[in-house]
Amino acid sequence: MHGIDKLHLGAAYYPEHWPQERWAEDIALMKAAGFTVVRMGEFAWSRFEPEEGRFAFEWMDRAIAMLAQAGIATVMGTPTAAPPAWMVQCYPEIVRVDATGRPQQFGNRCHYCVSSPKYHDLTRRMVEAMAEHFKDNPHIIGWQLDNEFNQECHCGHCRADFQAYLKEKFGTLEELNLRWTTDYWSQTYSDWTQIELPRGGHNPGLMMAYRQYVTEAYRRYAHLQVECLRRFIPQAQWITHNLMGWFGLYDHYRLSAELDLVSEDYYVGSGHVDAAASAAVWDLMRGMKHKNFWLMETQPACVNWAPVSNKLNKGEARMLAWQAIGHGCDAVLYWQWRSALNGQEQYHGSLVDQAGLPRPFYEEVTELGDDLAAAGAVLAGTRVETPPVAIVNDYESRWSLEHQRHHKDFDYVTELNRWYKPFHDRNIRTDIISPEADLAPYRVVVVPYMAVIDDARALRLKEYVEGGGTAIITCRTGFKDHCDAMLPTRPPGTILQELTGVEVEEYYALDRTVAVSAALFRGSAQYWAEKLKTTTSARMVETARFESFNGWIDGQPAVTTHLPGRGLVYYIGCVLDDVSMRKLVDHILTFKMIRPAIKDLPPGVELCIRINDAGQKFLLLVNTTPDTRRVKFPPNQHEYITGGDYEGDVNLPGYTVAVLGERAPAVAHSAAGAAAAD
Ligand code: GLA
Ligand code: ZN
Repeated sequence: MHGIDKLHLGAAYYPEHWPQERWAEDIALMKAAGFTVVRMGEFAWSRFEPEEGRFAFEWMDRAIAMLAQAGIATVMGTPTAAPPAWMVQCYPEIVRVDATGRPQQFGNRCHYCVSSPKYHDLTRRMVEAMAEHFKDNPHIIGWQLDNEFNQECHCGHCRADFQAYLKEKFGTLEELNLRWTTDYWSQTYSDWTQIELPRGGHNPGLMMAYRQYVTEAYRRYAHLQVECLRRFIPQAQWITHNLMGWFGLYDHYRLSAELDLVSEDYYVGSGHVDAAASAAVWDLMRGMKHKNFWLMETQPACVNWAPVSNKLNKGEARMLAWQAIGHGCDAVLYWQWRSALNGQEQYHGSLVDQAGLPRPFYEEVTELGDDLAAAGAVLAGTRVETPPVAIVNDYESRWSLEHQRHHKDFDYVTELNRWYKPFHDRNIRTDIISPEADLAPYRVVVVPYMAVIDDARALRLKEYVEGGGTAIITCRTGFKDHCDAMLPTRPPGTILQELTGVEVEEYYALDRTVAVSAALFRGSAQYWAEKLKTTTSARMVETARFESFNGWIDGQPAVTTHLPGRGLVYYIGCVLDDVSMRKLVDHILTFKMIRPAIKDLPPGVELCIRINDAGQKFLLLVNTTPDTRRVKFPPNQHEYITGGDYEGDVNLPGYTVAVLGERAPAVAHSAAGAAAAD
């Protein structure tokens, strides 16, 4: 539906911050940097509707037209993250209330209640007016809904709305009371209106339902905007929302289902790019819809909000952009074009400074523009080659474990990233997928800490493994249902007990590390260990054992390997240290004969593969380090950025990328050349 004709480069642009006489100069600078797109409008409500019911879009028409003349397309943002002062004054009920009951003050952003019926009406009117006005504008390629959904509201309406949501979900109070075990501490509800929005700790069932409710509130709000847009705009214009990586206030899979395209806002903040961490975020985003994504905002050297808002090294941002592209990104937009003279983000990085002059970083973006001019055409329309490995990410399990860590240092996202890293460091590509995703495409599936399980999830894993797949299932899996109630079975639940051949008899928070020994490694476990009872001896190997510790787990299995059907399943009964994890992953990769497409890449050089519809592959070698790395190119490669032909040992300077495609055979090459010369 939404054909990709190029890889885009651009920035967030706020023409409303500047006199119109300045726009031409901005646009000329953008063009010189190789821009093909800007995102505009997402905070411009007070300009679009300066007083109730009076809409003013002509200024934006002019900006879009001037940009278009320079070959720069527009992504239009709906301005709903910033309801204007007159609206807040006139309709105080739209204002978001924090958990202490205090309404937000006007003068920041995101000060609206996402469920407010009045705000829904005002949103509808605004978004429809925009959609109707801009619908025939051929220079708008897509729409962004709002900006970084990220709040919760504790107003009276939200409380009633949550109660209505629960009524719809559970049907009867008896059912809710049962699922939440409200006999505990006399929590039994006799009327829906007694149920509170959670402030801090609460009944786990209520906490889980609240996260599901917040998800639903944002999904509904996004849906409302999508409907308004789709009444007017052509199919060719896509609709997105800019997500924030691992941000976990709501379930991103459910929100993404409402969108045509997923986009990400990625900021390093303090310090420098951690290549495994950024790679994981790209894979997370690509996994939202199993499609390419946009980098809708990223850091132009520095931010203004980090503890230390240092600038990235020269070349580092360009490298980061290429890494994102390697992982399926189709557009890179910096936030923002020019520093506004006032407003909350004065010291943030930008391409043009307060004086309107290009900052030193502008030069780097220009280089990226040149890169894309050279290599963008062959990469346009390509997707990431399906990786051999998938890691399952589940918001409900995450919430459950965040509410009840049992060990203060056990952090779901950190631990998921620790499972990601050994694959990343070996240049074995991964997908990060939802627990509902199809497992069939993968040779290895990692299921870290999937606390929440249901029969469908368990059966999908069983079918996958028995059909020949390899699964790594970790501790803390299979404890809970979707209401965050303990299952009345021992973990990892009946179906996975059978699949893994183990049953968790007890769990232990670890006040110190415990030594773990195996033929493959001697390492340790931290945070959490389980006493595993192996329920079968058939086709079962005790891969690692705990050493002497607390008397309970001493000498007990820490990692098991079971071979049900045609497959293989590892159960990891503890949180392993990095080295042990790496050894285990190496072992599994060797056993499964999963290797990177280029052997012996030096550390810090990442290999990504994008593939076009004809099956032609492009290898992206990204040197994520500041130092030159010597890389062995496969034979017969054309490099698209330099335009050179290479093979064998090549020096890849720090923070640079090589985009390789196999050269056409000599005969075809000259024939094509001849045709072109005709
Ligand atoms: C977020 C917002 C932007 C801007 C940047 C600054 O990502 O979407 O409007 O505030 O942060 O880093
Ligand atoms: Zn509210």
